[in-house]
Amino acid sequence: MIIYREENEIIKKALENLNIPKRVYIFDTTLRDGEQTPGVSLTPEEKIEIAIKLDDLGVDVIEAGFPVSSLGEQEAIKKICSLNLNAEICGLARAVKKDIDVAIDCGVDRIHTFIATSPLHREYKLRKSKEEIIDIAVEAIEYIKEHGIKVEFSAEDATRTELDYLTEVYKKAVEAGADIINVPDTVGVMIPRAMYYLINELKKEIKVPISVHCHNDFGLAVANSLAAVEAGAEQVHCTINGLGERGGNAALEEVVMSLMSIYGIETNIKTEKLYETSQLVSKYTEIKVQPNKAIVGENAFAHESGIHAHGVLAHALTYEPIPPELVGQRRRIILGKHTGTHAIEAKLKELGIVVGKDINNEQFEEIVKRIKALGDKGKRVTDRDVEAIVEDVVG
Ligand code: KIV
Ligand code: ZN
Repeated sequence: MIIYREENEIIKKALENLNIPKRVYIFDTTLRDGEQTPGVSLTPEEKIEIAIKLDDLGVDVIEAGFPVSSLGEQEAIKKICSLNLNAEICGLARAVKKDIDVAIDCGVDRIHTFIATSPLHREYKLRKSKEEIIDIAVEAIEYIKEHGIKVEFSAEDATRTELDYLTEVYKKAVEAGADIINVPDTVGVMIPRAMYYLINELKKEIKVPISVHCHNDFGLAVANSLAAVEAGAEQVHCTINGLGERGGNAALEEVVMSLMSIYGIETNIKTEKLYETSQLVSKYTEIKVQPNKAIVGENAFAHESGIHAHGVLAHALTYEPIPPELVGQRRRIILGKHTGTHAIEAKLKELGIVVGKDINNEQFEEIVKRIKALGDKGKRVTDRDVEAIVEDVVG
């Protein structure tokens, strides 16, 4: 694998003297926050199939759902728990006994319990004082620990909470037995520098692993997750295809490939399974992957312009940061009005037609002219179009 941190002087220098973990744990919440994407509702069977796929992909934790939300949800989570997957199975629970009991009944390995801490949530949603919120969190964590279950604790809307109070909440959570604390950027207001600052501050006080959960309201979820890792966060919450509430969550495929290929950080992900996992999730959620989506989009390794296609055909890394096969993708040379002769020659070869052997130079020039003319009409030229043009020109 190409590791930019080792090969790129600028990146290497920029990351010097940071306490970046060697290994980062991937907590997948496609089946929980991802399923909270407006309009998405998975059947228990679909959830089970996705869970198996995520396990196969190598995620460390699968947040299988929010058990208290429905009977179907409980059925799916129970089944996922009974599969004995390699990944730890986690269930979400508000810091209330009823939610926790239902999660325990599902047989999860880890309970992700949360309560909001920001002034907005304290005043308008919970109508509770700072002290009351700490008491509720502590009681919930202690109750889960009494059942011998691992606890991940989140202060919802952490990034809009007063830093001193937030630190106190997390310290009390750890004292109560939380095994890991998670820092949600619930409405995605962080910027990378601020996220780095926050995690760095928390690291001074908190002695259990720190996780982050970034929303993408300003398109910064992946960047903020990476900034958290630069400050020492050991776990990142993400979803396949960046699904999630509103603008979504940090996209797993982008976080993982950045961690592994740019920073050289270890994860357990089998990267060559990323594309097929993305496709499966897209199929069941019925949320299309945008073509220009990094890593798993149809255009992520597609080249149309003559200059790029020529470069890539001469040496793939000229216009590709990583080989497409590394993420289960393939290179696509797209023909259109920007296409150059090298790309058309390569496409013809792919279709079994060799210039100079099966067709002469004049015929080739005519084919190039017609392909560009089709592109000029605003059309994406398909293989079928090329075959028809060749047939017409060659006879
Ligand atoms: O975004 C969020 O705050 C959440 C919590 C449940 C952790 O998803
Ligand atoms: Zn969330």
